Amino acid sequence: MRLAVIGTGYVGLVSGVCFAELGHEVVCVDLDAEKIDKLRRREVPFYEPGLKELIEVNSAAERLTFTTDLTAAVQRSDIVILAVGTPSLPSGEANLSYIKKAAEEIGRALNGYKIVVTKSTVPVGTNEAVSRIIAQHASYSFDIASVPEFLREGTAIRDTMAPDRIVIGTLSDRVRQTLTELHAPLTANILITDIRSAEMIKYASNAFLATKISFINEISNICEKVGADITRVAEGMGYDKRIGSSFLQAGIGYGGSCFPKDTQALIQLAGNVQHDFKLLKSVVEVNREQRMKVIIKLEQLLGELQGRTIAVWGLSFKPNTDDVREAPSLDIIGELIVRGAIVRAYDPIAADNFRRMIGTDAVAYCGSAIEAAEGADAICLLTEWPEFKELDLRQAGAAMKSRVMIDGRNVYTQEQLESAGYQSYSVGRAA
Ligand code: UGA
Repeated sequence: MRLAVIGTGYVGLVSGVCFAELGHEVVCVDLDAEKIDKLRRREVPFYEPGLKELIEVNSAAERLTFTTDLTAAVQRSDIVILAVGTPSLPSGEANLSYIKKAAEEIGRALNGYKIVVTKSTVPVGTNEAVSRIIAQHASYSFDIASVPEFLREGTAIRDTMAPDRIVIGTLSDRVRQTLTELHAPLTANILITDIRSAEMIKYASNAFLATKISFINEISNICEKVGADITRVAEGMGYDKRIGSSFLQAGIGYGGSCFPKDTQALIQLAGNVQHDFKLLKSVVEVNREQRMKVIIKLEQLLGELQGRTIAVWGLSFKPNTDDVREAPSLDIIGELIVRGAIVRAYDPIAADNFRRMIGTDAVAYCGSAIEAAEGADAICLLTEWPEFKELDLRQAGAAMKSRVMIDGRNVYTQEQLESAGYQSYSVGRAA
């Protein structure tokens, strides 16, 4: 099939590349000419394991092309996939202006029947609005479908090629048949539903996962006080198939471009229909407070942070990505700076993005975790990059002023930290 994918962010680029890999002819569209030029040179705008290789192979096979010309891309395609961003407005609501603008342009570009698929995460009812906008500008018939995306950064290719499920929101038989065929090579459960339910599935799924994380973080806070170990508690809970073991990793809370934005958007969506989503509001609040535990524990162990040197290990919102959007590191380092601490940070790949995002020169960026630890009063581990697990804690400790470790992701066992001479705090373990 011939596909046009509008938007080359995470969702758009990964989906486009994976559909090309499945043998379809894909053209990816973006307004950003510089980004398109880079992609044509096979340079990837963000770090995602395996993506560069797939771009290279599929570009060489001429199944994958890149353009800024939305009209031409739409006109040569059977299916148009909308994957533009839906960032948060100050109110927390999703900003739909990019979606609406793209819908208008798609409408004008139509030169025959097409299926327009929305992959962007959009509030319930948005697909109907998109359909109205396209209809206002189009002289040809079209159908609309909601096919939400469930990929995770860092494992995006695997999640797309081997998804747990594919949700297709449509009431049209023609669309159902075509989209079932499009996804046929992926051996996943396909759920066909109405459009509004498909839109809701995406928000409800992200909100539920965020709830699991805040729940386990709350349990971890109680574990610390009653002398239980959160790792064992989560393990014991996870064996129950009704609960499941994933997303029960206690830590300093969730970040990223999805959970913070989508939980807020769902709270707003509920509010718009006079439903006070109390549970989800608490999930967000717990997540905000969980980040601050790093600061509280540091102050308990070191006293005032003014003039103290703090090494920060990990800046990205999770490992295997250079994405720092809504990363706990932004809030935590912000607080350290406010309290007058000297921050020495290390991340294997996210330092440049962090530097651009934080908007201050007050952080020293180091070339390695050990270098960051030099002269430090404490280390705060904020992202569980695999290399931290392998690291020689004694060597890091030898470079420090005092051996204090805030292990925000429970990367180390207490025995490891104790035997390397650290005074430490790990999440959800009795001190
Ligand atoms: C999330 C969802 O997992 C995807 O299914 C969804 O498609 C995506 O959002 C999206 O809406 O586009 P992502 O944000 O890439 O994916 O990353 P996750 O692996 O879900 O991690 C999110 C945050 O939760 C990270 O900060 C991670 O450190 C944290 N987390 C995750 C925990 O603190 N504990 C856990 O047990 C799991």
